[in-house]
Amino acid sequence: MTSKILVIGAGGQIGVELTEKLRDIYGKDNVIASDIKASNEKLVFSGPFEILDAMGYEAIKTCVKKYHVDTVYLMAAMLSATSEKHPELAWQLNTNSLFNVLNLAKDGYIKHIFWPSSIAVFGPNTPKNNAEQHTIMEPTTVYGISKQMGERWCEYYHNNYDVDVRSLRYPGIISWKNPPGGGTTDYAIDIYHEALKNEQYTCFLNEHTELPMMFMDDAIDATVKLMQTKSEKLSIRSSYNISAISFTPKQISESIKKVLPNFSINYKPDFRQKIADSWPKSINDSVAKTDWGWKHEFNLDDITNEMLDQLSKQI
Ligand code: SER
Repeated sequence: MTSKILVIGAGGQIGVELTEKLRDIYGKDNVIASDIKASNEKLVFSGPFEILDAMGYEAIKTCVKKYHVDTVYLMAAMLSATSEKHPELAWQLNTNSLFNVLNLAKDGYIKHIFWPSSIAVFGPNTPKNNAEQHTIMEPTTVYGISKQMGERWCEYYHNNYDVDVRSLRYPGIISWKNPPGGGTTDYAIDIYHEALKNEQYTCFLNEHTELPMMFMDDAIDATVKLMQTKSEKLSIRSSYNISAISFTPKQISESIKKVLPNFSINYKPDFRQKIADSWPKSINDSVAKTDWGWKHEFNLDDITNEMLDQLSKQI
């Protein structure tokens, strides 16, 4: 029987492109997109779609049974900046949704799970450069705490209930198809929009804030590759470090200036500066490289060219 996939939170920045890719690979009828609302037309009309609240165990179970789903990608979450404003709601969404899916696997309704973690699992005591797979973590944001707790539970469900759950610690993901929502790394997307519209950008982080980032195509490739890897090759059942590039607002502005010489940037750090300052600047992804051959393709200037090219067609 063909594997049936359910994507929860398919309408989000990553969900939309992941669903598109999974439908290309596995066939559109084998990939059920779901979200709390039907906000993305393309998603709704390109294959099966269900309105689904990630916090409702019974609703997810009904959907899983209806389509004979065996694999769930849980992409619904509240990101770092929004979570600081709504700590309790963030905690409920980010943790209940994960328990729902882990329990569906424990109870025998599904077999495989993908759940993204984040560089937000690291904290101010983590070494700033080249943060290792196993290192001091101690996250200080609600989002980071929820992701770290999630990682612990993923590993626990794998070890104790044999649940095949796999995870990646995504860095900031840069993309042009669907807008991001509520992340601290979102400036690295806003900046391209503003560069094309106004040739000017006011950045909410200071010029020297270096953070790990990745182009969407690389993030999707990593996700698909991890899920296609034979189970026995995976040594990490909490979440894998993956990395591509690291840059500061000043460096991304310089990359944009190569294409748009009149572009200018100024800096007005807000509450998100503190979040960014708590995260490492760069990540060591050697375990992902060894276990399943992870490798990124897009560097900063590649991303800039692709973003400006695609966004200028949209505008
Ligand atoms: N991009 C995310 C955020 O800023 C990090 O996982 O919240």
